[in-house]
Amino acid sequence: MKVAVLISGRGSNLQALIDACQDKAFPAEIVLVLSNKADAQGLDRAVKAGIPTATLNPKNFENRASFDAQMSKTIREAGANFICLAGYMRLLSDDFVRTWRDKLINIHPSLLPLFKGLHVHEQTLESGVRFTGCTVHFVRPAMDEGPILAQAVVPVLPNDTPDTLAERILEQEHRLYPLSLKIIAEERVRISSERVIIDGYQPSQGSLINPAG
Ligand code: GAR
Repeated sequence: MKVAVLISGRGSNLQALIDACQDKAFPAEIVLVLSNKADAQGLDRAVKAGIPTATLNPKNFENRASFDAQMSKTIREAGANFICLAGYMRLLSDDFVRTWRDKLINIHPSLLPLFKGLHVHEQTLESGVRFTGCTVHFVRPAMDEGPILAQAVVPVLPNDTPDTLAERILEQEHRLYPLSLKIIAEERVRISSERVIIDGYQPSQGSLINPAG
């Protein structure tokens, strides 16, 4: 599987995917890192790993549709047939999501469908929940929605701040995202009535449920 990773910033999840793909036995290869921000730190990570990069500036496009159409073109030209959003913080057009339906996944730092959108960790702390986590899901037109592939659970501790909580969740994101990509690339994942079914899933692979690892 040839993967394009879309980023907007730091790219620590991108780094986790890069590290996983460096194992020769890993069934996917990153062929493009695409950013909507020229100064995204993730671009440096890609360059260091010898992965082609592209930056598209939304200001150079008339609207979201034309920006997203250029993204699709760039992704195809790079030879990618699958997309991972990794901290890509721009809304996607319905057209883009339709074009890449079931070939487009996202990672989000909560147990969806709770706490969508921005300021996720603040929302989580304000809610008083004792457990949160991260979710990998197939992307549908509505933001942070779509069939859930994998989740990892993380406790909320009494003195957590948005930063400490983000850090604890991020550790699990870095395990969950490569694992998710792996099982998709192994063709073990299908979607039926908008629910994800994983072939050969064994309950002993608890990493898909509670804390990854
Ligand atoms: C990650 O926590 C990711 O889950 C989140 O942004 C962060 C990106 O960090 N994504 C979203 O909130 C998407 N709705 P990274 O750039 O270091 O991977």
